[in-house]
Amino acid sequence: MKNKIIEFLKNNQDKYVSGEEISNILGVTRAAVWKHIKSLKDMGYNIESAPKKGYKLVMSPDILTYNEIKEYLKTEFVGRDIYYFDELDSTNSYAKSIAEQLEGEGQVVITEKQVNGRGRLGRQWVSQNNKGIWMSIILKPKIDIYDVSKITQVAAASVNKAINDLDVNSLIKWPNDIIIDNKKVCGILTEMNSEINIINYIVVGIGINVNHNKSDFSEEIKDVATSVKIHNNCNNVKRNELVARILNYFEDYYNEFVSGNFNVSLNICKENSYVLNKYINIIKNDKITVAKAIDINDNGELVVEYNDGNIGTILSGEVSVRLKK
Ligand code: BTN
Repeated sequence: MKNKIIEFLKNNQDKYVSGEEISNILGVTRAAVWKHIKSLKDMGYNIESAPKKGYKLVMSPDILTYNEIKEYLKTEFVGRDIYYFDELDSTNSYAKSIAEQLEGEGQVVITEKQVNGRGRLGRQWVSQNNKGIWMSIILKPKIDIYDVSKITQVAAASVNKAINDLDVNSLIKWPNDIIIDNKKVCGILTEMNSEINIINYIVVGIGINVNHNKSDFSEEIKDVATSVKIHNNCNNVKRNELVARILNYFEDYYNEFVSGNFNVSLNICKENSYVLNKYINIIKNDKITVAKAIDINDNGELVVEYNDGNIGTILSGEVSVRLKK
């Protein structure tokens, strides 16, 4: 009901609507309307209440609920069901806990703050309050299990396009990072639950530093992390619009991918690559191998040329790739 009330107030933005009108149209008691308005105010909605006039929505808060995202959303199924929380352990963990019971796919879990955000290779992912986008998309594609890692690149292409729409130039560091000005702005963590050859579900976790200031990054990560805001002339970015843009691109590229056309995402990953034609350190189990990144092949693997001239491919799995200094 809270959602219906906020929708009603949004549709009547900047004018007063009486409690009686809301109660008649939505079929709830006036006491319930009052209770819901109070809870909306607690969420940060600036709603003016005036005797005899009723309620007027003055300003919506910067929160990532479906109500705040949907006006920008053009998708059919991705993000049409959003599970929103003030705080979570990790959106990936939560998404994994509900994925099996859910019908269909495209549900998105979003939180304002993660207390145990997870990164690749068992790393921690710092996820501050209300500054970033911490979300996970639940998917159930009927694809070969060997193609699952390509979904990370579908997501990377979507985030790259959405950020670049803001006139901020981001690049994709194969396989799962988005980089602005040599620093990481976004990481993607794709997790899967499967039986021998059947995918039960996939969770694509996307973490983006959006409205962080330089001072928000700890000593430990300040030299390697950045935010969209820092490269947007220090202007805050509308997180709800950015989420919707990402989901809009994601649905398009994902639909293409599951119908056999991975090229749409692959081309974006190649054209906006941070590593192609550069020398990189490939780090596996503490062993560093130097190679030149020369291509990303149709399987989404990175094709490299080693110093002895041999050509090899690397799969995203357990490898860390760093530009060679
Ligand atoms: C990485 O770069 O190592 C991947 C980072 C992925 C972080 C996101 S934030 C939303 C989702 N939930 C998590 O716990 N992790 C991912």
